[in-house]
Amino acid sequence: MPWTRRQLAALQAMGIPVWQRRAQGESPTDTAVQDAVVEDPHAEPAAPVSRAASEAVPVPEQVDDVATLDWEALEARVQSCRRCALAEGRNRVVFGDGNRSADWMFIGEGPGAEEDRQGLPFVGRAGKLLDRMIEACGMQRGDVYIANVVKCRPPGNRDPKPEEVAACAPYLRRQIELVSPRVIVVLGRVAAHALLDTDSPLGRLRGAPHLYDDTGIPMIVTYHPAYLLRNPADKRKAWEDLKLAMRLAGATP
Ligand code: URA
Repeated sequence: MPWTRRQLAALQAMGIPVWQRRAQGESPTDTAVQDAVVEDPHAEPAAPVSRAASEAVPVPEQVDDVATLDWEALEARVQSCRRCALAEGRNRVVFGDGNRSADWMFIGEGPGAEEDRQGLPFVGRAGKLLDRMIEACGMQRGDVYIANVVKCRPPGNRDPKPEEVAACAPYLRRQIELVSPRVIVVLGRVAAHALLDTDSPLGRLRGAPHLYDDTGIPMIVTYHPAYLLRNPADKRKAWEDLKLAMRLAGATP
């Protein structure tokens, strides 16, 4: 399937070189872009399919009924949440954003400074790159649902603590259940460790689908866009991950 112009532009904006395969007799200017596959000889071996073990996360009594809430009640609950110390320092709760019936869900680790100001996920520099990644898959930001493992900003952009991740876990789980996406893209080490209940290096978690808990929803792990801004050479690997997600979502190439 040829890439659309928008996908091509997004790939170029991601800094990914696109190989153009020309059909016989086609001029170089009107060639359809067939593929952007760049094999990485140094890629780490794919990890086996694994299941998230959210059973291991203690669900506090007060949020037990989260599994029964609809979108409106869930958002109200999260907006007034004071279940962990992150509530003290936040300006805004960052609940999540996008199409609540999306085929794709992207999950990051937690709000940064700009997200905390605006109350929306991925609106800073990393968010701009995430937009390009979504466009490279042939979608717009508004087509997908974007959420974070924790809904309040960890001070100084530190990693969320295990108890903060655990306090927020029922909210994220309910968001995933309500969206019921075809595929989940997990952004970065912190989110991957939280969702897969593992501390394996990110490189070992990439390259093969995982399943989200007992839902049967496939989940792929890729680099966090903030990491990709610092390490642009790894954008090619991120593109491999996104292509795997496209296959899982039934939106090949
Ligand atoms: N990084 C994240 O993980 N989430 C955001 O919402 C913004 C930056």
